[in-house]
Amino acid sequence: MELSGIYQSIEDDLARVKEYLRSIIKVDFPWLSEQLDYVVGGGGKGIRPALTLLSGKFYQYNLQYLMPMSGSVELMHTATLIHDDAIDKSVSRRGRATIYKLWGEEPAILLGDYLFAKAGEFVADTHNPRVIKLFSQTLATISSGELNQFFSAYNLKQTREQYFKKISGKTASLFSLATASGAILSEAPEKSVKTLGDYGHHLGIAFQIVDDILDFIGTEEELGKPVGSDLTQGTLTLPAMLLLERYPEDNPVKRRFENRDDRDNIKQAIEMIRNSPIVDECYLVAAEYSARACRNLNELPENSSREALFELAKYVVARKK
Ligand code: IPE
Ligand code: IPE
Ligand code: MG
Ligand code: MG
Repeated sequence: MELSGIYQSIEDDLARVKEYLRSIIKVDFPWLSEQLDYVVGGGGKGIRPALTLLSGKFYQYNLQYLMPMSGSVELMHTATLIHDDAIDKSVSRRGRATIYKLWGEEPAILLGDYLFAKAGEFVADTHNPRVIKLFSQTLATISSGELNQFFSAYNLKQTREQYFKKISGKTASLFSLATASGAILSEAPEKSVKTLGDYGHHLGIAFQIVDDILDFIGTEEELGKPVGSDLTQGTLTLPAMLLLERYPEDNPVKRRFENRDDRDNIKQAIEMIRNSPIVDECYLVAAEYSARACRNLNELPENSSREALFELAKYVVARKK
């Protein structure tokens, strides 16, 4: 199913969240206003804000609080992308030039900081200390995940456990914040908060594994961002790890990591991974996490949101962008 179909039951409210996000554009500083317009109007799949709204639909659907929360997770996500692009020196995102490409590193870092601050302001509008605390903890977890990735760049001796720890920090934590906060703000019983939080976590892991696969097999046109960038950054993801395991003596990933200038090795690694069972193996792992995400969903009240969460778990593995 397409995302538009999955979002059907929250379509109007998701549009309201987008409108609500646009409120940050009104600042008395033309450069900033223009950049804010650019980044909040820049498309994106909207998975995290949708997760908050869908997770908030099982008990008291309280849009007054769910809307700022939903806006807050999307702003936090947008800020991490702006920082991530500056760190990766990446020139395109969502099919357009990145802030890094347009303005350089310093404005990208400062604009990201600005968005984190606005996200904090939004989450405060929930008047709920528990989600405010979760928000701060998640930001710390994401930063630590990105730092972990930075300091393990070009390290060939990484275990799967380390890989899962990294993607859990940099990606799954925000998915889990999106779902758990939706549950908390709708006064869900503790058991359901846990079920939805765990769903978000496992979905986030599946999502990042697929992102890491698409970095090898996707196209820039479809993804709206450069491909092959993980090896360029020296980031060892699951497909590259499996290639190392398959050819431990000599392989292009190893050569690339040991001799950082050698661009030919990136091409070769991409070719080898594309033409091997590695892609399927990685998809199997992603599908396992997607299935784990759905494991306890049946304990939640039956409604259109529950169906949408099942569909989203399928979408995350099947997606091409
Ligand atoms: C990109 O996330 C960052 C990752 C966690 C891989 P999305 O693919 O959800 O980004 P947008 O919001 O749709 O652009
Ligand atoms: C996700 O990882 C980044 C963040 C959580 C900020 P990636 O580095 O794989 O994301 P893309 O591929 O640049 O979107
Ligand atoms: Mg990146
Ligand atoms: Mg990526």
